[in-house]
Amino acid sequence: MNPTTQHELRLAERMSRLGTETAFEVLNKARALERQGKKIIHLEIGEPDFDTPANVVEAGISALRKGWTHYGPSAGLPELRQAIAEDVSRSRSVKVTSDEVVVVPGGKPIIFFTLLALADVGDEVIYPNPGFPIYESMIHYLGAKAVPIRLREERDFSFDVNELASLITDRTRLIILNSPQNPTGGVLSKQDIHDIAEAIGDRNIMVLSDEIYSRLIFDGEHHSILSIPGFQERTILLDGFSKTYAMTGWRLGYGVMRPDLATHISRLMTNSNSCTASFTQVAGVEAISGDQTSVEHMRAEFQRRRDAFVAGLNRIKGFSCRMPKGAFYAFPNIKKTGWASKKLAETLLEQAGVACLSGASFGDFGEGYLRFSVANSLENLNQALLQIDEWTKKNL
Ligand SMILES: Cc1ncc(COP(=O)(O)O)c(C=O)c1O
Repeated sequence: MNPTTQHELRLAERMSRLGTETAFEVLNKARALERQGKKIIHLEIGEPDFDTPANVVEAGISALRKGWTHYGPSAGLPELRQAIAEDVSRSRSVKVTSDEVVVVPGGKPIIFFTLLALADVGDEVIYPNPGFPIYESMIHYLGAKAVPIRLREERDFSFDVNELASLITDRTRLIILNSPQNPTGGVLSKQDIHDIAEAIGDRNIMVLSDEIYSRLIFDGEHHSILSIPGFQERTILLDGFSKTYAMTGWRLGYGVMRPDLATHISRLMTNSNSCTASFTQVAGVEAISGDQTSVEHMRAEFQRRRDAFVAGLNRIKGFSCRMPKGAFYAFPNIKKTGWASKKLAETLLEQAGVACLSGASFGDFGEGYLRFSVANSLENLNQALLQIDEWTKKNL
């Protein structure tokens, strides 16, 4: 106990079940090494290294000057909800109206609020593993039962739909899908989505479809279960501005869901954040309705880096890496190095000066893999490859 405190900190029991995102821990560790004078190449954090497009920044500044500095409606500004409804209607080929849209500060709150609103203690929630660690963390936190579905490298990190079918029980309340996927870069194909919909059938199971990387697809097209007839009323679509428009620090995301559920998610907003920052939302209208050139520019640049980085990883002893079809991550198999993922990630940080994440920090089925973010310059990515290659030559 801290010697200056007089009273023991008594946390609620549920806090022992709350997980975290190791990316932030690794970043702190890397920063500490940098303070000691070490040079570190940062490939751990999942955020675009680009600046927010200038038209969006200008819209944000102008909104501040015009006084968009007050509370707004909990569910979001009507203009932004309308712009999102139109965008989602177009991109997912469904009719979405603005009362089905809830604007929140980033994509993450939609995960939290959906689970809070839908999962009771003991309810089963199926989620991808390896996967975004917040899913498992929040499921555990709420006392629901976490049911992982294994993503399989041999299927380009998709899962076996028969396995999904075998995991569905009478207690299954929610299935979480994520495509393009963090950490593997896997993408669900049209066929995958149809098979998943068929496995769910007409059961009253909700689907949280995390499509935050929907605009970052390198091969093929984005497919959403929202587009499948009969699934609109059972789907909560999560998308947002963080990755598409390099707006991670603005905190702007949204959920699209049936209006009766949207009312409840808005109530959760009223109880937690009141509303998403108003000027941020005005900038969001510009992001979604304005010039999209920068989105394509960033996508093409991530693709160029992905191609170079994955080819380089495949030349490193003990590493083999599938070509990710979306998002901005590479997820190489490192089993042939003989090292455990966490140990290898820590050692590469300390001895090779490259920060990456252990696959195991994305769930048990991530053991044997590392995650690298390619949201860094090609020059730094090539330098990281050199340093890892040198380290493996010396140590493996
Ligand atoms: C799969 C996935 N979902 C949601 C999020 C959350 O995004 P945001 O920063 O908008 O909350 C992330 C961020 O890394 C992510 O990778």
